[in-house]
Amino acid sequence: MSATKKPVKRVTTQVLMDMKKNGEKIAMLTAYDFSMAKILDDAGIDVLLVGDSASNVMAGHETTVPITLDQMIYHAASVIRGVKRALVVVDLPFGSYQGNSTLALESAIRIMKESGAHAVKLEGGHEIIESVQRILSAGIPVMGHLGLTPQSIYKFGTYTVRAKDAAEAKILKSDAKLLEKTGCFSIVMEKIPAKLAKAVTKSLKIPTIGIGAGNSTDGQVLVTHDLMGITKEFHPRFLRRYLELYDEMLNATKSYIEDVKSSDFPNEKEQY
Ligand code: KIV
Repeated sequence: MSATKKPVKRVTTQVLMDMKKNGEKIAMLTAYDFSMAKILDDAGIDVLLVGDSASNVMAGHETTVPITLDQMIYHAASVIRGVKRALVVVDLPFGSYQGNSTLALESAIRIMKESGAHAVKLEGGHEIIESVQRILSAGIPVMGHLGLTPQSIYKFGTYTVRAKDAAEAKILKSDAKLLEKTGCFSIVMEKIPAKLAKAVTKSLKIPTIGIGAGNSTDGQVLVTHDLMGITKEFHPRFLRRYLELYDEMLNATKSYIEDVKSSDFPNEKEQY
């Protein structure tokens, strides 16, 4: 059963635009593998993001910088196999689009052809607009990403809230307008003041998706492993945890170890 008001067979970029028009909030989560994607899709999630946060969550890297295009395609193809309804958006990883629009198009085409994904997401505004244009010219839907853009962590030096000062807020507003004008179907806004996110959301026809950007964006996104409490040590203010899976899985594993060591598992019913 869909969690949205009007159940749709398949979420498309047009459905998301209609949801904004109708004032229906968009629910988006990350997924990197088949099993998790299937659960989230069965629950009625609107958008699944194969985020480059896989670099942190799945591979244990400190930043999103190391993940490769091949690795993103592997994750995306796994997710696609678990999804019937959600729109699947895939992050173009660091180094696959910045400063080279030909490379950007090649990377986006590889993602679409080799994984079966429905759209790509790029971090940045005016500085990557040529790449956005070129990808769009091939008929590939593009989601923007402004505010805290983790691929630029070494430029920012910190994961703190972005666009708190007037100058950066002004650039973000004009980047949002530019991405819309260029043809993006949606924009993620990460870790910016709620007031600014509200103003940008009001100024655009395309839906905004917030993470740490307050309640006035057209939708919300979280990293699924954070929401489920698998990433135990990560607890930013914007995160709401719905489970404490780290502890539950730890305890289940301890019970299994105990059962094996004591020869309790397998019992007579669990053997042939
Ligand atoms: O990679 C990711 O998970 C993201 C979300 C935080 C928006 O880009």
